[in-house]
Amino acid sequence: MISVLFEDVYAPKEDSYLIIDYFKKKITPSSFDGLKPQDVKYILDMGTGTGIIAIFLELMKKKYNNYTYKVFASDILPNAIICARHNAKLNNITGKITFMISDLFNAFPQKLRKKFDIVMFNPPYLPSIEMHEGNMNYKKDYTFDGGKKGHELLLKFLNQVKEYLNTSHKCYIYYICSSITNLDVLYEKILDLGYINTHLERIHFFFEDILLNRLEI
Ligand SMILES: C[S@@+](CC[C@H](N)C(=O)[O-])C[C@H]1O[C@@H](n2cnc3c(N)ncnc32)[C@H](O)[C@@H]1O
Repeated sequence: MISVLFEDVYAPKEDSYLIIDYFKKKITPSSFDGLKPQDVKYILDMGTGTGIIAIFLELMKKKYNNYTYKVFASDILPNAIICARHNAKLNNITGKITFMISDLFNAFPQKLRKKFDIVMFNPPYLPSIEMHEGNMNYKKDYTFDGGKKGHELLLKFLNQVKEYLNTSHKCYIYYICSSITNLDVLYEKILDLGYINTHLERIHFFFEDILLNRLEI
């Protein structure tokens, strides 16, 4: 059960469910998408919005009791964190998820460096130019605006996240992107950052394809 009672918070959409439906298939009692349960200790849901992904992950722990991972969820919008905490309460998991207000990793404490085995980000991915063309009253919309070409925020995140990954064993980053950006350019930049990109799922929705990908270092 997820409610979106708070202004500016991203109501879960096809992209959110693309991630959740993938993990419904890929989290089993003995494997987290190929990783051993004991190797998944810290998970981060960046840009948590309503908290839907973080809450889903916490509920999977209840379903399969051999997982002991700790879920962290952060967002740049204070209202998103208020909303996500409220939704955690609605799902009877108050106090389980660590919530943080942060512009990407800016407010993360030092102790979280090299910690995360799994990081997820369903980022805003619409190009900002399209969004404010002809609109003199344009105010940045953090839920949709991914930067000039639509992928700048994602690339900034991919630059920063390396510091926070536990690279002592295999770790994964999952992210959403859209065909609305130039995917060839995006994938080349991701390759330049040293990641191996695996395409996992793709859905067509109105004017765009939405893709779920996984990165390894
Ligand atoms: C497309 S929504 C996804 C929300 C949620 N994860 C979901 O799948 O329904 C993108 C989220 O990223 C957040 N966000 C945007 N810029 C951010 C930044 N610089 N740092 C952290 N979060 C950010 C937005 O506030 C929004 O909640």
